[in-house]
Amino acid sequence: MVAADSTAVPTSAASPLRQLWVHAGHHRRRVVLATVFSILNKICDIAPELLIGAAVDVIVKRNQSFVGRVFGVADPFQQLTILAVVTVAIWVAESITDYIADRTWRNLAQAIEHDVRMEAYRHVQELELAYFEDRSSGGLMAVLNDDVNQLERFLDLGANEVILTISNVVFVGLAFAVISPQIALLAFVPIPVIVLGSLRYQRSLEKRYDAVRAAAGRIADTLTNNLGGITTIKAFHAEEREVARVAVDSQAYSDANGEAIRYSAAFIPLIRMAILAGFTMTLLVGGRATLRGDLDVGLFSSLVYMTQRLLWPLTRLGETLDLYQRAMASCRRIFGLLDVQPSIKPGRQELLRPVQGAVRFENVRFDYGDGSGAHVLRGLDLDIPAGETHAIVGATGAGKSTIVKLLLRLYEPKNGSITVDGIPIEELTFASLRGSIGFVSQDVFLFQGTVRENLTYGRPDATDEEVVEAATLAEAHTFITSLPDGYDTVVGERGQKLSGGQRQRLTLARAIVRDPAMLVLDEATSAVDNETEAAIQRSLARVAEGRTTIVIAHRLSTVRHAHRIHVLEAGEVIEAGTHEELVERGGLYAALWRVQTGDAVITATD
Ligand SMILES: Nc1ncnc2c1ncn2[C@@H]1O[C@H](COP(=O)(O)OP(=O)(O)O)[C@@H](O)[C@H]1O
Ligand SMILES: [Mg+2]
Repeated sequence: MVAADSTAVPTSAASPLRQLWVHAGHHRRRVVLATVFSILNKICDIAPELLIGAAVDVIVKRNQSFVGRVFGVADPFQQLTILAVVTVAIWVAESITDYIADRTWRNLAQAIEHDVRMEAYRHVQELELAYFEDRSSGGLMAVLNDDVNQLERFLDLGANEVILTISNVVFVGLAFAVISPQIALLAFVPIPVIVLGSLRYQRSLEKRYDAVRAAAGRIADTLTNNLGGITTIKAFHAEEREVARVAVDSQAYSDANGEAIRYSAAFIPLIRMAILAGFTMTLLVGGRATLRGDLDVGLFSSLVYMTQRLLWPLTRLGETLDLYQRAMASCRRIFGLLDVQPSIKPGRQELLRPVQGAVRFENVRFDYGDGSGAHVLRGLDLDIPAGETHAIVGATGAGKSTIVKLLLRLYEPKNGSITVDGIPIEELTFASLRGSIGFVSQDVFLFQGTVRENLTYGRPDATDEEVVEAATLAEAHTFITSLPDGYDTVVGERGQKLSGGQRQRLTLARAIVRDPAMLVLDEATSAVDNETEAAIQRSLARVAEGRTTIVIAHRLSTVRHAHRIHVLEAGEVIEAGTHEELVERGGLYAALWRVQTGDAVITATD
């Protein structure tokens, strides 16, 4: 884990390749198949060099040639014909194995990429809300998108390349060893230099690529943030400033890459020198042996070609290791993310059906941080009997929304207990707990899609009648039918094609469609006009019947008919009762009420 930057996406310490192998588990058969065809392909690829040697051998030795002896054919031209037939066969086989190997590797890359992406996304979704608040969505996007794609690039080309390079060294080495062990040694001298050099080299590249990935994450971050806030940017005429900000990130990415490129580009020129040594050695030592008559001309020509064969592919080792390092940097980030354990885990119990919806908070303490700051909730008690409508009122920042987030188990209280129908919520499955709550959030969020899709989000099997009924109750039906395509109108990303009040009414209808045992409305009518609110109030009275309803509202007129109103101040319930009782009491509620009904000079701190 990165200590300096606790909000960054953590990287995994374990060997990324091993982890990848574990995650690619059920693809192992395909990995083996692809490997086999890669090796067969390499054998076909090397064969022509031997055939050249054999052809030279035929020309030089005529009826004494290797081919002549093996096939028992004396006529040199017939021998060449045999060689031609073998050549054709080998080239065809090379094409076929090439096709199969390439296809298998690339499909494998797709399959593994898909698996890893899905696993990572599924995992990220399970992490608790606090995790996302401490991190940027752009950084997570970069891991789920760029890093996963990086994996594909390596598996597509790199893995095949590694196998080809290794089998190349093995088979050419075998051929060399059979033909002339002495020259084989000389030709092989550069290999350890190249391989060890490459490995050391790549290790110094590793850090640089990690830096590149981190820089890519920061760009993605800034971009998502800015595209999300494009209205604000325009309204504040901050385009130039934002361009400058993106430019800084983009430049940092470019610089990080430049640093990596500076190293990686020097690689091939350096390796060429090592190859040169091997090639000249073979040329000189092999040539001298041939002149002396210790080595056949045919074998010598094979060797000269094969030195090239042996060493040149090694230059690609650089590129391959490069791909490999980039992929492993990505792997470390992906697996680092997978290593993060969700700290809020679902329980196993289910609420008894039919769910009553009795909610109880007992001495609940909570703060968002590590406990060093002030508590947001300080020993909160709430008792909401099943079927009643309770209101929570209080100034902004009093902790009202926090109560709801705790009830949904988006956060865990530090102390105290929260129960639904007498069962502690941490013992309940998410499906049972959250499935019984219809939640209208203060932060309205609609998905890209049609009005109908958004309304049935919590219950995809709802009938059209149910959808229309819920929309009517939420005072949304009339405006929906006046939209260009009615219920099939596309609302745009985050519902941006609708007005604030319209969005709010849709989220209200969305909660009602679920027909939940508990309905929780967090400032659900703050963005609608007074008239619409009054209408929604009347509908809500009907909706609230037979279910527990928690209404958080700023406007006290919204909640005056609640069974009980809890007045929250700085994380504590300071008074509770019916509207009449509280007004009578003459406390904070009564003061707020006077302000809102215009009976007092406005002094509220909001
Ligand atoms: N995700 C969060 N991380 C840190 N602090 C938060 C977070 N959400 C809310 N707070 C803080 O907790 C307090 C209560 O917030 P909230 O429950 O949203 O208030 P209310 O809904 O009553 O306006 C506020 O001081 C707010 O700054
Ligand atoms: Mg709030």
